[in-house]
Amino acid sequence: MYTVENTVPAIVADFGSHTSKIGYAGEDIPHNIFPSRLGVKETNGKKDYICGGGLDTRRDGLEVVSPFDQDGLIQNWNDMEKLIDYSVTNVETEDFAFMLAEPCYNPKHLREKMCELLFEKYQSPAVYLGRSAVLSAFANNRTTAVVLDCGACSTTAVPVFEGSLVKNKTLRTMTGGEQLNAKFKEQITEKGIEIKPEYSVKKTRVDEPVEEEEEEEETGSNDEEASTRKYEITDLSFPGTTDSYKRYRQTALLEQSKEALCKVNDMPSVEPVLQPTEKYELPDGTLIEMGLERQKVPEALFSELLLSPVSNDSGVLKQSGLPPSMSKGLPGMIRDVIQSCDSQMHKDMYVGICLTGGTSNFDGLYERLTRELLVLHSKVRVIAAAGRAERRYCAWTGGSILATFTEFQKWWLSKAEYEENGSGFVHTKCQ
Ligand SMILES: Nc1ncnc2c1ncn2[C@@H]1O[C@H](COP(=O)(O)OP(=O)(O)OP(=O)(O)O)[C@@H](O)[C@H]1O
Ligand SMILES: [Mg+2]
Repeated sequence: MYTVENTVPAIVADFGSHTSKIGYAGEDIPHNIFPSRLGVKETNGKKDYICGGGLDTRRDGLEVVSPFDQDGLIQNWNDMEKLIDYSVTNVETEDFAFMLAEPCYNPKHLREKMCELLFEKYQSPAVYLGRSAVLSAFANNRTTAVVLDCGACSTTAVPVFEGSLVKNKTLRTMTGGEQLNAKFKEQITEKGIEIKPEYSVKKTRVDEPVEEEEEEEETGSNDEEASTRKYEITDLSFPGTTDSYKRYRQTALLEQSKEALCKVNDMPSVEPVLQPTEKYELPDGTLIEMGLERQKVPEALFSELLLSPVSNDSGVLKQSGLPPSMSKGLPGMIRDVIQSCDSQMHKDMYVGICLTGGTSNFDGLYERLTRELLVLHSKVRVIAAAGRAERRYCAWTGGSILATFTEFQKWWLSKAEYEENGSGFVHTKCQ
């Protein structure tokens, strides 16, 4: 752990609706990254909870649940507590402040509840709830920016001016990683491919015997040799497996194949560029082969998008009073957000477009976005971390940097302030 004199040692957490990212302030990337899902198994009225890698082992009766709703907001605090418990395993939380990244539309009551939990249960000495867009801008060295977060449940374009959210100008579309999963699933179902979870098939190589360990490495690969290997596949039956667990494992495979195969078409509005066929091998040996179709799924991000204005003025997720609108893809969404802000902000925002979120990692997305934005405006700069991991964990990184700044220390909501003013004081300290 890294601490600076006169700073509070802090845990930084970004509990996304898909993936939780946890680490210590001052570190470059989160050291603990795990699915934001819980396995729950009830035995004789007692519930056991499983998180992280433990979810990779199939067990009879194990249900998989999420503490988050479809908007990516916390809906089940009991489950959320289990997720936090797991994230701070072996950590003396009373010795650490908590820096949490939160969606810009996180409602007030959820902010207050989170503070109560961190102070009362985890006995944290100080808490800060940072808007993830502001933290992401910060990670990219920007205080004025438009942060395009292509996440799992949605994609948001959030304007940030001089380190604060521009109120009521955020636009959001539900086209995020999950919607693209559904489109990708349709595509492979049309090919007659069904995803069988890894635990439900036994694959034995028959052309030339290999060690079990090697066999495992061969699954989930997309290398050329894959098509020449010969296997005997046996379906295994585990009737005690719950539907939620089966879905969880199928979705993981669906995402892996989506991420490996799909790419953004280079040029807008023209016939997709001919691509060599790419292959992805599923655990049962089935090959997903795709040529031109590789570009079909992410193209949704550059087609008409239904946008909902999101209010963050009151801290409540609601329509800002404006009707939903359509935009021509992500570039149109960014342009609409910038144009809705005061004109003196436009220049800095057009050269401060920060790209973040797992879904922004599609091959070719950055290039296509930049090219289309340049058609809409003459001076544009899209800022994106070079590495995939860094791009995905921007909000976490911003929190990690901020928490170590000496000047920032006065912004922590301290336990004493919480006790004196109540949890509502969080809206004053963490704006
Ligand atoms: N290389 C990749 N290419 C395309 N999509 C990817 C890639 N890596 C991750 N994703 C997608 O990114 C999504 C997860 O992104 P992220 O970690 O930003 O979500 P989150 O922060 O947990 O969710 P949210 O912010 O929406 O609540 C998943 O849908 C995943 O399939
Ligand atoms: Mg996120």
